[in-house]
Amino acid sequence: MAVRALWYSRGTLHLLDQRQLPRRRVVLHLRKAREVADAIRRMVVRGAPAIGVAGAYGMALAAKEGRYTPASAAKLLASTRPTAHDLFVGIEVVRAAWAAGGEPEAAADAYRAKIVGECRAIGEVGARLFADGARVLTHCNAGALATVEWGTALAPLRLVHERGQKLFVWVDETRPVLQGSRLTAWELEEEGIPYRVIADNAAGHFMHTGQVDAVIVGADRIARNGDFANKIGTYEKAVVARANRIPFYVAAPWSTFDPSAARGAEIPVEERGPEEVLAFGGRPTAPIRSTARNPAFDVTPARYVTAFVTPDGLLGPRAVSRALRARAR
Ligand code: MRU
Repeated sequence: MAVRALWYSRGTLHLLDQRQLPRRRVVLHLRKAREVADAIRRMVVRGAPAIGVAGAYGMALAAKEGRYTPASAAKLLASTRPTAHDLFVGIEVVRAAWAAGGEPEAAADAYRAKIVGECRAIGEVGARLFADGARVLTHCNAGALATVEWGTALAPLRLVHERGQKLFVWVDETRPVLQGSRLTAWELEEEGIPYRVIADNAAGHFMHTGQVDAVIVGADRIARNGDFANKIGTYEKAVVARANRIPFYVAAPWSTFDPSAARGAEIPVEERGPEEVLAFGGRPTAPIRSTARNPAFDVTPARYVTAFVTPDGLLGPRAVSRALRARAR
């Protein structure tokens, strides 16, 4: 694996600073829970499974500092970003181990290994979906950077490429933070997978003109009825894919599924600062007194999903609720 979002060794969490990619490869070395919380909030590390693992290690660092209880550390780390369910799972796994007198660092290591294993399994399941020569569109970054290793949406594409099958990826640039052009394109470049970056507005054109065979994205939270939150703009891609009879897949580990959310309307959607929308590359793109709205995610109704690609196989949207009940037993 050429790309890794984070790693942990001897009391230090090492994070590849995703704000600086693709221009510079800078690694931050964090030893305090508060630094990890800031890194999640500022999107040094981002992507649902990756912030879950960072949250787990943030808990392990908090336990070493000696100034937190399991509950106060969990509160600090959980206050960073509201939408990705994985964050709360990662924090809770380590909080529970710590509160029970277990070893927080070992719990965080085990959580990381579980997520990496599930992403690899998603790759195996999803690789069967794409025929030789498939032209696949993706939105945002759901690669190794978003998940520690492998990715969710990108894991099947990595395997397909590794196995020598022909593949081409359309990469939505993903305004306003450009996770597509800055991060997905960078990962594909590192792996030698052919791709083109397109403006977000162009995805409909390429679907409508028969140049997209499938769409695959990740998710930040999936409700019991199969509605799911992902990067802003995902809803539009799903609607256009359906209008053009293009299969639309959502790849996610189990930590992204939220058994407590009955439907999409219950998923909290993060709203970020207006400066992300009102400037480009640090330069203003709107009149100086403009204000903006900046929802970071949207919720796509389950009816637009062809299948969820999970570590244990494909899941139709109507089967999510049953699968979650079976896993809880
Ligand atoms: O705001 P971000 O960059 O954290 O948003 C990330 C996404 O929306 C990803 O598509 C999602 O987390 C899936 S990552 C495997």
